[in-house]
Amino acid sequence: MRILITGARGLIGTALVERLTGAGHDIVTLTRSDADTGRGHYAWNPETGECDIRALRAVDVIVHLAGENIGARRWTPEQKRRLRDSRIKSTALLVDTISRLDHRPRVLVSASAVGYYGNRGDELLTETSAPGGGFLSDLCRDWEAEAMKAMPLGLRVVCTRTGMVLSRHGGTLERLFPMFRIGLGGSLGSGNQYWSWITLQDAVRAIEFAITGDRITGPVNVVSPNPVTNAEFTKSLARVLHRPAIFPVPAPILRLALGEMADSLVLAGQRAVAARLTDAGFCFEHPDLSSAFRAILG
Ligand SMILES: NC(=O)c1ccc[n+]([C@@H]2O[C@H](COP(=O)([O-])OP(=O)(O)OC[C@H]3O[C@@H](n4cnc5c(N)ncnc54)[C@H](OP(=O)(O)O)[C@@H]3O)[C@@H](O)[C@H]2O)c1
Repeated sequence: MRILITGARGLIGTALVERLTGAGHDIVTLTRSDADTGRGHYAWNPETGECDIRALRAVDVIVHLAGENIGARRWTPEQKRRLRDSRIKSTALLVDTISRLDHRPRVLVSASAVGYYGNRGDELLTETSAPGGGFLSDLCRDWEAEAMKAMPLGLRVVCTRTGMVLSRHGGTLERLFPMFRIGLGGSLGSGNQYWSWITLQDAVRAIEFAITGDRITGPVNVVSPNPVTNAEFTKSLARVLHRPAIFPVPAPILRLALGEMADSLVLAGQRAVAARLTDAGFCFEHPDLSSAFRAILG
């Protein structure tokens, strides 16, 4: 298949390109970086609404991963605008460009996040659970609604409500790892908040599964079958590294360091389970956290 990927140079995109190329697919990308265009890489700018339509010609599938990194900077009003616009405007731009094609792709797999569910304590969350409230939840709901506008254009649309993607090369684990490696790790806040996690390898396999699984449509939780509390996550990581984890970080310190992000991302939790993936027969390479850490950390 010819597959267009946005955000292809990010954490998930890089691994996805490698996997899909290895499986023999022809990959093209849309990027904001002019320096990288040419040889299958096309330019777009979701902020100004520009998109090189040649990127979408003869494409079978679009995987839309682009968006300003959620955890990279403090959430000032300007940063929150960027987080929203980079997802909602980019999705709207894709759908508008698709509508102008004579030959449309068959599938759109568009990223979303378990942040859709808001802060939900220990409630088990499947794809049919109601959305939560707050900035991230509203953002995910609007982002998915924008992607679903491709359905009346004849595309099968899948929104991948992704949990915390575990990798040595980016995301939360990369940030936590240095402290844990020197024995200064500990739980965050109460440690009771649930973290729905998935290894990068399984996240990429799940996207591939969504591309090829003709019956999969709508929201799909891209998380392992075993979400854990932050305290369990902490204990498991410390055990695999043979280090203590006796330095909890109190919530007020996290709020001071991270601002609003602390309550929305770190101290909040979702206990999301992979109901649709499991029902559709997806097999996880890393269903439990210890095996995931061992595979990632070697
Ligand atoms: N990683 C996770 O744990 C996780 C969890 C839940 C959901 N997700 C979602 O999955 C998607 C991919 O995640 P990721 O971790 O691979 O992201 P990432 O590493 O931050 O990469 C995202 C890509 O999006 C593009 N981008 C960045 N800022 C942008 C902006 N302001 N406007 C338009 N495009 C922009 C960049 O591509 P160019 O520079 O080439 O344009 C970048 O490579 C994201 O939408 C993310 O919210 C990720």
